[in-house]
Amino acid sequence: MAGDSAFVVVANRLPVDKVVGPDGEVSFRRSPGGLVTALEPVLQQRNGTWVGWSGGVGDSQLPEETFEAGGVKLHPVALSAGEVERYYEGFSNSSLWPLYHDAVETPIFKRRWWESYRLVNERFTKAVADDAAPGATVWIQDYQLQLVPALLRETRPDLKIGFFLHIPFPPVELFMQLPRRAELLKGLLGADLVGFQRPLGAQNFVQLSRHLLGTRVRRGVVEWEGRTVRAEAFPISIDVEEMERLAASPEVQARAKAIRTELGEPKTIILGVDRLDYTKGIERRLKAFRELLSDGRLTAPETVMVQVATPSRERVEHYQTLRVNVEREVGRINGEYGRVGQPAVHYLHQSYSRAELAALYVAADVMMVTPLRDGMNLVAKEYVGARADNGGALVLSEFAGAAAELRQAFLCNPHDLDGVKDALMRAIHVDPVEGRKRMHAMHSHLRSHDVRAWADAFLDALGAAS
Ligand code: ADP
Ligand code: F6P
Repeated sequence: MAGDSAFVVVANRLPVDKVVGPDGEVSFRRSPGGLVTALEPVLQQRNGTWVGWSGGVGDSQLPEETFEAGGVKLHPVALSAGEVERYYEGFSNSSLWPLYHDAVETPIFKRRWWESYRLVNERFTKAVADDAAPGATVWIQDYQLQLVPALLRETRPDLKIGFFLHIPFPPVELFMQLPRRAELLKGLLGADLVGFQRPLGAQNFVQLSRHLLGTRVRRGVVEWEGRTVRAEAFPISIDVEEMERLAASPEVQARAKAIRTELGEPKTIILGVDRLDYTKGIERRLKAFRELLSDGRLTAPETVMVQVATPSRERVEHYQTLRVNVEREVGRINGEYGRVGQPAVHYLHQSYSRAELAALYVAADVMMVTPLRDGMNLVAKEYVGARADNGGALVLSEFAGAAAELRQAFLCNPHDLDGVKDALMRAIHVDPVEGRKRMHAMHSHLRSHDVRAWADAFLDALGAAS
């Protein structure tokens, strides 16, 4: 049965997580990750429905009630405890996530996870089919829902179906490791348009379709089951205006000053802000800082590092190991280089408000974004967006999608520790005129490539796709 929404976005997560307190009281908390940061302003502007999981464990047999938050209609999809384990922590985040990120951790494949992935994709499909008006546009997000395009086309061939992958799409030889690889690819081919962060992702996808399914490809368009499927790059971005406004607000400016004072008025503040994920290169970044202190190229407390690490996927083993390693490294640095009341690294395993993050961006002299592999990395763009004053400096991994656009950053190869150390030293000691030029160039780029331009480009291309 069709619904009445002309525009439906479906993602694994809703923009808010439902939190049930010990007294049974229900409250909502912003969900982690770049997907939510990017899509929230798009949905607010376009008056659509957002279908997604509300976090936590529910009764997957019972439909949850649609509600509204921040001007967006939200349709929650429940996951049972077993589904959280097999679909979310298992196939999505222990098989697909590491495989699509260059296998920087070894992907784990367990046969029982697949069935759950398929069932949950079917449930999301049904929720979308119930919401979408005849002829509606449906925009499916990310690797957790790769079967939805084909499932949806089966039940609702009247819909325009777009899919966007927020993470990298791997080269053919890596993808070929995946059990159920053909089913997954056929799932994606249900879309009219498949969007990627980088042109390389689109190329990998087209090549894979040819290799695995023998599809015909004409001028970059895949022919499949009598239809055409376009594959193109649409680099995602942030709400630049919102970040500029937030950073310029008197409250955030005052808070940024207070942060410097609380840190003991150091000469240089180095900042890292990431989900606590092994793709983000946090351990190596800390090691680079420790070696610079040990080499005497940096000294504490004149230089202070602040590492914010949002808790993420805490029941998955790779993440538990990472946390232990990061916390051991922080302890080691502070043990060797801290003083009473003056740690060399301030490690914060917490989530913060947008305003507090903006204040950290304004306070930081150097932002370090050094993932081993990242689809885009919105934190890098947020830092540049917050620095309309053209202050600060960005050290950025070549392996982040953002490096294709933020060319004036201090680019580095995160696998090359000496290279990371040199990039950080160059960023700290950059000539102020050159530093401002670099930040200005990146800021101007972002102004004309914000999240609205991203959504418009994707949805225009989807509208034009046959
Ligand atoms: P990913 O999607 O892999 O998490 P991104 O860098 O693209 O990586 O996006 C991360 C998003 O999460 C950004 O919008 C960032 O501001 C937000 N974020 C990161 N750390 C925190 C934190 N500690 N508290 C609140 N938001 C955070
Ligand atoms: O694109 C990265 C991404 O996996 C999003 O799909 C997701 O919402 C975000 O990171 C945070 O991850 P999670 O939803 O697993 O907490």
